[in-house]
Amino acid sequence: MYRYAALILLLSCGIAHGIQVNATDKGGKLCIYADIMVNFSVSYETTENKSETVVFQFPANATAKGSMCDDNSSTLNITFGEGHSWSLNFSRGGEKYAADSIVFVYNLMDKTLFPNAKSNDTKKTVVVKPHIVDIGLDTCYSCKSTEVIEAEDKSVNQTLWNVIIQAFVTNGTKSDKLTVCAADKPTPAPTTPSTTAGPTTTAGPTTTVGPTPTLPTPNSGNYNVTTSVNGTVCLLASFGLRIGVKQGDKYEEMNLEPNTTTVSGWCAVNTSELTLVSGTMKIVFTFTNDSKKFHLQALNATGKTSSGAAFSEGNSSLNLWQASLSSSYMCNNEQNFSIDGNLNVFTFNLRVQPFAVKAGVFSTADECFLDSDLSFLVPIAVGVALSFLIILVLISYLIGRRKSRTGYQSV
Ligand SMILES: *[C@@H]1O[C@H](CO)[C@@H](O)[C@H](O)[C@H]1NC(C)=O
Ligand SMILES: *[C@@H]1O[C@H](CO)[C@@H](O)[C@H](O)[C@H]1NC(C)=O
Ligand SMILES: *[C@@H]1O[C@H](CO)[C@@H](O)[C@H](O)[C@H]1NC(C)=O
Ligand SMILES: *[C@@H]1O[C@H](CO)[C@@H](O)[C@H](O)[C@H]1NC(C)=O
Ligand SMILES: *[C@@H]1O[C@H](CO)[C@@H](O)[C@H](O)[C@H]1NC(C)=O
Ligand SMILES: *[C@@H]1O[C@H](CO)[C@@H](O)[C@H](O)[C@H]1NC(C)=O
Ligand SMILES: *[C@@H]1O[C@H](CO)[C@@H](O)[C@H](O)[C@H]1NC(C)=O
Ligand SMILES: *[C@@H]1O[C@H](CO)[C@@H](O)[C@H](O)[C@H]1NC(C)=O
Ligand SMILES: *[C@@H]1O[C@H](CO)[C@@H](O)[C@H](O)[C@H]1NC(C)=O
Ligand SMILES: *[C@@H]1O[C@H](CO)[C@@H](O)[C@H](O)[C@H]1NC(C)=O
Repeated sequence: MYRYAALILLLSCGIAHGIQVNATDKGGKLCIYADIMVNFSVSYETTENKSETVVFQFPANATAKGSMCDDNSSTLNITFGEGHSWSLNFSRGGEKYAADSIVFVYNLMDKTLFPNAKSNDTKKTVVVKPHIVDIGLDTCYSCKSTEVIEAEDKSVNQTLWNVIIQAFVTNGTKSDKLTVCAADKPTPAPTTPSTTAGPTTTAGPTTTVGPTPTLPTPNSGNYNVTTSVNGTVCLLASFGLRIGVKQGDKYEEMNLEPNTTTVSGWCAVNTSELTLVSGTMKIVFTFTNDSKKFHLQALNATGKTSSGAAFSEGNSSLNLWQASLSSSYMCNNEQNFSIDGNLNVFTFNLRVQPFAVKAGVFSTADECFLDSDLSFLVPIAVGVALSFLIILVLISYLIGRRKSRTGYQSV
């Protein structure tokens, strides 16, 4: 009987060696199983006003007390040491489940973990989003690869690896089926469909690896920045945005979804900045005031592709979207820009005004060449140049013929 149980253990969920915790439901049945390794890296301020960084893992005495399981959501809550806790929230939709967030609460008064900490904060909290998604119901999620999750304020990094988790366990028995994370799979064949990036696109279109864009035109969003001084709008922006990221031989395009995007930024006399965050994607636009004109000086993008691989690309010496200072820049046509070798940016129905905004509305627009009435001249100009070339060749041919004929006559 025991041997049988051990065999089941080996078969189900595989083996790992981190902290192993079980959570049970009200009836005492297993509902979440986890075997995970986490390296915490926490930086804090000491009484000498210095920044100190400590690295630690779960101690052996960590417990899963306070976990809870429901039909459609459940929480694995690991408590350890002097008042620290780490919880992972799962939700279920149809035949899939995913981890929505990690809430890490730590007690800076714990002098063994945080010697000489200045703060008295006993419940310092960071919330981050792991990339633990698309797990088939009644399967174990398995990921040996590391995933580094950085807190927004950079105070905490959590490195997860050797992760084995099953939430929504049925009948109190772990599953012997695995959902292996993308990072553990050998480089996927080009036909393997992968879902688009972003936390909300569960039913979104699928993109395949390759240069052909299959995404719909991104929706346009209005992104305004207000001054902290009196709350008036100091930067206006409105556009649909797509980015294309190259990693090795893989290329992936992602649309920015306006209704899940948070906007922030600031305006100063010579510089304005617009920051857009959606899911793991963060894009920073930096505009410069050149006294008479303005332009987009820098564009930085960080995030994760659908396979969970992190990217960070940017260029701080751009000269795009130039317009006079008292007006806005507009381009309704699709534009694409190569920001650096690995980042492309596509804009749709673009209009921006990063300086001199009056009464919260756009000033007159300087329109891009593609939108202008003159852009139709380009194919005409090419045609004219081509015909001219043909005529030139024809004339030189005729002259050549005549010359050679006169040549024969003179002999
Ligand atoms: C985790 O931290 C330990 C030391 O605390 C280190 O040896 C190990 O390499 C770290 N692992 C990862 C994946 O960062
Ligand atoms: C640390 O900084 C605070 C103000 O930020 C100051 O009052 C205090 O004297 C400083 N302490 C040391 C040890 O420098
Ligand atoms: C922290 O607590 C000590 C006493 O426990 C107190 O003297 C100090 O002012 C507190 N510091 C802060 C930042 O609240
Ligand atoms: C987290 O990782 C980033 C990037 O590797 C690093 O710059 C930062 O110092 C780290 N923060 C902590 C608290 O370890
Ligand atoms: C708000 O503050 C900005 C400077 O930060 C100033 O230029 C603007 O005139 C102010 N607007 C109002 C309505 O006070
Ligand atoms: C975002 O907008 C799309 C269509 O524009 C809609 O289908 C989706 O439900 C919206 N999502 C949220 C979270 O509002
Ligand atoms: C732009 O910069 C010039 C100085 O170079 C300054 O005089 C002007 O006020 C700035 N304009 C705005 C809108 O900040
Ligand atoms: C803005 O730039 C102008 C010249 O480019 C400079 O004289 C001025 O000091 C700058 N203003 C600020 C606030 O940096
Ligand atoms: C953008 O990235 C460049 C390097 O690529 C860096 O120097 C710059 O500080 C970044 N700017 C912002 C606003 O993150
Ligand atoms: C960018 O636009 C140019 C035309 O303006 C087009 O030839 C090129 O294929 C586009 N690049 C991408 C990646 O769509």
